Amino acid sequence: MSIWVLSDVHLAFGVPSKTMEVFGPAWKQYAEKIASNWKRLISQEDLILIPGDISWAMRLEEALIDLQWIDALPGTKVILRGNHDYWWSSLEKMGKVIPPSIHCIHNNVYLWKEVAIAGSRLWDTPEYGFGAFTVIQDNPRERTKTLEEGAQAPQEDEKIFVRELERLRLSLSQIPKTASRKIAMTHYPPIGADLSSSRASSLLEEFQIDTCVFGHLHNIRPGSLPFGKARGVNYVFASCDYLNFIPVKLV
Ligand SMILES: [Fe+2]
Repeated sequence: MSIWVLSDVHLAFGVPSKTMEVFGPAWKQYAEKIASNWKRLISQEDLILIPGDISWAMRLEEALIDLQWIDALPGTKVILRGNHDYWWSSLEKMGKVIPPSIHCIHNNVYLWKEVAIAGSRLWDTPEYGFGAFTVIQDNPRERTKTLEEGAQAPQEDEKIFVRELERLRLSLSQIPKTASRKIAMTHYPPIGADLSSSRASSLLEEFQIDTCVFGHLHNIRPGSLPFGKARGVNYVFASCDYLNFIPVKLV
């Protein structure tokens, strides 16, 4: 029984026009690569965490095609909302339709045997940045939005970030004391590359989290963001293009 992570799979079976294949050769046949690595490494008794940007779908019905594809792969899955998961709905609505091998983190805790999994999406913060690690690549589907066109003003970002921190605390505070291992999922990185203390990392330390997994960043130079352990928490960056679409084993 092992625990794995693979983030930002960005599936598009329900909305094929949004396939990631347009983002360069690394993404060619990405779903096939994910499926073949997943089946080679992960068994039915394992747990796999997907901390966000799961499906390009806008509506839950469209996302179900991607979720059924994930359900058919081995193991128990735990998912968290990313900034592109517009289809994400209330736990009640999702609980009625999401396939049984998939569990959602949404202001709650999921218990897998004695392992507790908690978390929240987080958001952009000026506390730390990753511009220096990114290979600049144009998004072929979008041009940069100006503030007038709806990009977030910095004070708006801060408001969202603070709300996400509260959600993280709410989720972490529900971890039972008896948990043998405490894992947090965040979609946005909770800490900078130098592992200096941040508001999110302080919360993870306060709740004695063993491992925090996250993704969100893309086009990161290979090997340039090793993260690792700081003040008791192990930070694992798991965006699937950074990992060459190979899930990482945590335990
Ligand atoms: Fe993202």
